[in-house]
Amino acid sequence: MVRLRRFRAGDEDEVAVWGRDPEVVRHYFGRRVLAGAEVPLVDLCAAGGRIIRAFETVEGELLGWVELRNIAWRSGGAELRICIGRRDRWGMGYGTAAVRAILAEAATRGLRHVHLRVALWNQRAIASYRKCGFRAQAVLRAGRRRAEGMEDLLLMTVDLAAQATSASSAG
Ligand SMILES: CC(C)(COP(=O)(O)OP(=O)(O)OC[C@H]1O[C@@H](n2cnc3c(N)ncnc32)[C@H](O)[C@@H]1OP(=O)(O)O)[C@@H](O)C(=O)NCCC(=O)NCCS
Repeated sequence: MVRLRRFRAGDEDEVAVWGRDPEVVRHYFGRRVLAGAEVPLVDLCAAGGRIIRAFETVEGELLGWVELRNIAWRSGGAELRICIGRRDRWGMGYGTAAVRAILAEAATRGLRHVHLRVALWNQRAIASYRKCGFRAQAVLRAGRRRAEGMEDLLLMTVDLAAQATSASSAG
């Protein structure tokens, strides 16, 4: 349903548009959407400790990006972030497909567990993460400060090794 790929030089303008959409910015977990980063997007893809991939439809329409950050190669852990920059493409299954794809890449590269934080009000994201195998571990009260005030967060994790075992025993 989606293809992960590296960012290309021509992607910058589109990502900048996403960064100017207040609803995208409000939903995204990071402090700022990628636009305006000091490092060009193409170079972000090559940064150590981080796997960042753009994703697009099979027709080649750029939708957003998905990222594993703070990768601890020895302990096998990483943190996930995702953003579909086009609001008119939310709720169509693309985010779930992109997360599944990067989790498959994470497992292939030897990672064993992935965690994420998400605003408790962001029920669409939580539903999507649950479909990818993430489970809630804790609520972090007032876990993040935003312009609108303090926000409760949900900490979710997925055990990639357990997922691979249950997939192979099921099939
Ligand atoms: C979060 C995000 C990646 C999810 O991707 P998506 O393609 O929109 O989500 P999907 O369509 O794959 O799945 C969404 C699920 O949530 C459900 N959903 C939608 N709105 C919902 C709501 N208000 N409450 C509960 N569930 C909801 C949908 O029904 C769907 O589940 P279903 O397939 O079982 O019907 C995407 O919406 C996005 O990038 N949003 C903006 C940035 C963001 O929120 N990032 C995450 C920050 S942690």
